[in-house]
Amino acid sequence: MAFDQREFRNAVGCFATGVTVVTTLDKEGDRVGITANSFSSVSLDPPLVLFCVDAKINSFEAFENCENFNINVLSENQIELSNAFARSSEDKWDGIEHVFGDNGCPIFENSIAVLECDKYAIHSAGDHLIMVGQVTKIAYETVERHPLLYFNGAYASLS
Ligand SMILES: Cc1cc2nc3c(=O)[nH]c(=O)nc-3n(C[C@H](O)[C@H](O)[C@H](O)COP(=O)(O)O)c2cc1C
Repeated sequence: MAFDQREFRNAVGCFATGVTVVTTLDKEGDRVGITANSFSSVSLDPPLVLFCVDAKINSFEAFENCENFNINVLSENQIELSNAFARSSEDKWDGIEHVFGDNGCPIFENSIAVLECDKYAIHSAGDHLIMVGQVTKIAYETVERHPLLYFNGAYASLS
């Protein structure tokens, strides 16, 4: 390999993405959430999406074993929410306003879009797990809303 991990991260970081917080419940019913920019749509029929979860993070087992998860697509005024779910912490949910979707997983009401998912498949891929979800419910609001973006290791904005 003619490049190291830092260079690989720099190269893939040239691909601008949105930012999501993916939520689920663990086997005790406790709320779990991580900031994730590995989200992608996959299939229209059936409606499938994916995100990738790092095998090293505390939330890994919860996602591996979950039945449902929610993808909250963040708007540019949700940077604090993104930061709250971007690193391991005992109190990720302290002071975080949320409701619960039909599938029981947390939702952040100011998100630009929310995709409620049933777990459809999981695929092991190197040091990550590819989580594929079948979308069961959608909500979105794009009028006068700008997405939070991530590019080159930093947040960015359309406006
Ligand atoms: C912009 C951004 C995007 C991220 N995307 C992912 C991702 O797609 N998959 C992932 O596993 N971690 C991703 N992370 C890191 C996780 O959010 C972080 O490791 C997680 O919150 C750790 O929490 P835990 O140890 O409580 O599970 C991302 C972080 C940031 C700041």
